[in-house]
Amino acid sequence: METSFFGKAQDTDVFIHTFGNDKITLSVTDYGARVVSLRYKNTECVCGFSDLSGYIKDTEYHGSTVGRYANRISDGKFSLGGESYTLALNEKGVEHLHGGNTGYSDRVWEVAEKTSDGIKYRLFSPDGEEGYPGNLEIFVRFKVEDSSLVIDYEATTDKDTVINLTNHSYFNVGGVGCENCREQTLMINADSYAEVDEKLIPTGKLVQCAGTPFDFRTGKKIGKDIGAMDRQLEIAGGYDHCFVFNGKSPMASISSEKSGITMEIYTTEPGIQVYTGNFMTEDNPFFAKYPQRTNEAVALECNKLPDSPNQPGFPCCILRPGERYTQHTVYKFI
Ligand code: BGC
Repeated sequence: METSFFGKAQDTDVFIHTFGNDKITLSVTDYGARVVSLRYKNTECVCGFSDLSGYIKDTEYHGSTVGRYANRISDGKFSLGGESYTLALNEKGVEHLHGGNTGYSDRVWEVAEKTSDGIKYRLFSPDGEEGYPGNLEIFVRFKVEDSSLVIDYEATTDKDTVINLTNHSYFNVGGVGCENCREQTLMINADSYAEVDEKLIPTGKLVQCAGTPFDFRTGKKIGKDIGAMDRQLEIAGGYDHCFVFNGKSPMASISSEKSGITMEIYTTEPGIQVYTGNFMTEDNPFFAKYPQRTNEAVALECNKLPDSPNQPGFPCCILRPGERYTQHTVYKFI
């Protein structure tokens, strides 16, 4: 493992760690426990920045570990065990998104363990942080195994809380700067997705994908139906929806004809947020040379469903003292 100084954030030294094998090379940074680079067959498959300032400036959660609750919580409010909680309203002052003003993406994580093929990070998230109940201790481990990136998450709490962790890497298996995600073939083993309202908050309804632009079960190019006349696509300006897995494996895959690379996703999570970089227009070029453009890459976020704390019909997102939150997600490159 090669470790070098990446910069300073919140008065703390931040490092970048690079490791891998003959197939895959991964770089991660302590700032937000973020994936900075993933190289497979000499192709850069993840959008990243050359220096720490790119991440500090970033508003799109590039490569980061998102929490305590990934995606949106309606009005930043929920009740648990008879108590009402109010979270930071960091999205347009009306919604709670990706953990709040300083979510886990913008915290400096502590290195708990380093091996030749991986790194384990630890974060302590105090009771009341961004409005969430309970002291939470979190571990995230990035490991390279053959041609896969494996991410394992663990968390424990001392009070009932809600939790939804994910990795927010924007993948481009055609090579960052070489083609956009509309050209790439996405397959999702999902029969339904969570319908959203105008504020991108789930309505609670799971809509069947069959016969809609959301049917990716047999694989199709992202660009095929992204511009279709469909209210859900109009609201989000493209795909920005949580698909519910149907139990088939792999849960999802994406491939590029140009590079010949396919990435398969295997996860213990119930769903995947597919966000086609609809708002990716920031003046913050990837690796100091590739401009951020709409649909430049796609975030494939394995997680629980958005706003589950307010949706009794969605899979449970509550973590209680004595329990252990775990997630195992594999991104396999072929
Ligand atoms: C959300 C988008 C959001 C993006 C960056 C995604 O996970 O689904 O709505 O714009 O993250 O913040």
